[in-house]
Amino acid sequence: MRILFLSAELAPLAQSGGLGDAAGGLARALAARGHELVCALPAYRAALAHSQCPALAEAGAVELALPERTLRGRWLKGALRLGAERLDLRLLDLPELYDRDGLYGDADGPYVDEALRFASFARAGAALAVELGVDVLVAHDWHAGLAPCVLREVHGDAARGIAAVQVVHNGAYQGRYPASALAVTGLGLEHFHMHGLEFYGDLCMLKGGLVWADRVVAVSPTYARELRTPGFGAGLEGLYVWRGDALDGIANGIDTERFDPARDAALPHAFDARRPAGKQVCRDALVAEFGLAAPVAGRLVCAIGRFAWQKGWDVLAEAVEPLVATGASLVLLGSGDAAIAERLDELARQHARRVGLFVGWDERLSRRVYAGADVVLVPSRYEPCGLVQLLAQRYGALPVAHAVGGLVDTIDDGRTGVLFDALEPDALVAACARAARLFEERGAAALRADLLALDVSWRVPAARWEELLRETVEARRVAS
Ligand code: GLC
Repeated sequence: MRILFLSAELAPLAQSGGLGDAAGGLARALAARGHELVCALPAYRAALAHSQCPALAEAGAVELALPERTLRGRWLKGALRLGAERLDLRLLDLPELYDRDGLYGDADGPYVDEALRFASFARAGAALAVELGVDVLVAHDWHAGLAPCVLREVHGDAARGIAAVQVVHNGAYQGRYPASALAVTGLGLEHFHMHGLEFYGDLCMLKGGLVWADRVVAVSPTYARELRTPGFGAGLEGLYVWRGDALDGIANGIDTERFDPARDAALPHAFDARRPAGKQVCRDALVAEFGLAAPVAGRLVCAIGRFAWQKGWDVLAEAVEPLVATGASLVLLGSGDAAIAERLDELARQHARRVGLFVGWDERLSRRVYAGADVVLVPSRYEPCGLVQLLAQRYGALPVAHAVGGLVDTIDDGRTGVLFDALEPDALVAACARAARLFEERGAAALRADLLALDVSWRVPAARWEELLRETVEARRVAS
């Protein structure tokens, strides 16, 4: 199949979180299965400057009519090599929108024109799908959400044979803007109603995909179910229910070549399922690096990620002292919310031999933490799929996670991790106790070897994706 990915992030060129990993990883895995992948993203300054950005050539002018002027730019193209795979890369070069520091702005920040930036990306992306005559356009998250709508409503017959799929990586971000932003979409008021782009009086770009795409795919089966409920649907639960069988869930994999404890230069010692002993060397080194007291097996508890409400670090902070009281040593790595960072810093000072903290982002250090950890905490309030638990398993650490979203689908409770129901410090501490018991009962070496033998790659998810895309493309062909 010829598949066009529209995504605001694509690893390794442009990335701020899991979206980049997932879009890049899936594209590569589908290419490895023999499909022709075209991956389009905005020509951010950072993407153009990235060391892995390929040589680029001009690939056509882009003109987007706005109410009072015309935006002019061009597509750039190049061949992005990822391991053995080659992706056809397209960068939308509209310097006025994308030649800036960073990928996004926040509502009060410098990029007040965020609606224009991503509406333009989606419009140009839909036109590109028609120009290339791809079989299917895959829109990732709200940034590309208008593309399925534009494909049907603007391109009409020319796009009749092109299937459209909307992927929901995080449905809490909806691209919601005041109604006046409709002007920058090139779409008329006839699409601005509750069965279209309108959402409580505002414009909702994600609805462009949720309403118009042939299929909607959440990044895990459990998240697909959760989206149909008020707690998780963020106001769109009715729409998710209404889409019925058209809404599916497929959990992500991770790039097991990029994250491979057998060949990871950041680690003090290599290890894998056949030679798991090196993991102990990494554990000793991590304990030493943070000057911690060495806990018994199962009690070196780590956490890695953003100090954000979604990620539940406030609950984690409250669990630190009770965990220390059980004899655990902790290594915490991340950045974000200042109040949480301050609280963790206090705890690390008070329990210098028990709590190691690194505030900031250091990828090599994060790999050493995964490699050394017995247990990795994932107390997310909601988690569409989650990468941390997969990275933990890949590096032979047991994830202890809140039973939500993709965490439920990727953790077999009591075997490949521990799940807990209520997001409260007590429940987290009790789950850590269960994890420690698993280490006792099964023995650290056997438990690690089982984790290291898991397949967390894109192999299985990519096969499911292929099936879903093929069905969607065929259904569209029959209908058109
Ligand atoms: C978002 C979600 C995360 C998911 C990632 C990739 O970042 O919050 O759960 O793993 O997208 O799909």
